[in-house]
Amino acid sequence: MKFFMDTANVDQVAECAAWGVLDGVTTNPSLVAKEGKDFKETVLKMCELVPNVSAQVTATDFEGMKKQADEYSSWHKHVVVKVPMTTEGLKTLSYCREKGIRTNTTLIFSASQALLAAKAGASIISPFIGRLDDAGEDGMVLIAEIMEIWSQYNFETEVLVASTRHPRHIIDAARLGAHIATIPYALFQKLPNHPLTDSGIEKFVKDWESVQ
Ligand code: G3P
Repeated sequence: MKFFMDTANVDQVAECAAWGVLDGVTTNPSLVAKEGKDFKETVLKMCELVPNVSAQVTATDFEGMKKQADEYSSWHKHVVVKVPMTTEGLKTLSYCREKGIRTNTTLIFSASQALLAAKAGASIISPFIGRLDDAGEDGMVLIAEIMEIWSQYNFETEVLVASTRHPRHIIDAARLGAHIATIPYALFQKLPNHPLTDSGIEKFVKDWESVQ
């Protein structure tokens, strides 16, 4: 299973990349706006740290998305062009497949959207589970449905579990065999911790000091 970080903050990426567990980054326009830094510069810095960096198109029509896909993919070989799940987005996925541009389809909320994106040639699809949970649904049910469908075909498209909110999301995604989870920095910080690890270290240190 690959771990991506859901952020537009280069320092956060550098920190978790140093743990040796980071396979990529997913940015989106909201995350980039929050950091207030130059988009291209941010993406390029991240490309030096990890092999997959999703850069999202902001156009909503095919011509505009196509232009941005060509531009972003020319920046660095680690760029993955992120495209929203719309019919214009599907045309863009198909265009990118022809041109050998890697893509990540964002804002997936149903299995039918997942199927269409895969058939149009998406390298990655991103179902948003936290936002489904927020809306009173069970986002993990969608991941189970998609993974069941994927087990019956030979799609090359990877399933990326997005909009994760807590450690259980990551564990459940792994149990279902999802290929990737994208994890916000605050959630990444929680994953290595356990209170018994902390108290265990404290006791080892104290016991060792008592015989020095
Ligand atoms: O990668 C998708 C992610 O950025 C959406 O997360 O927390 O805004 O639902 P969230």
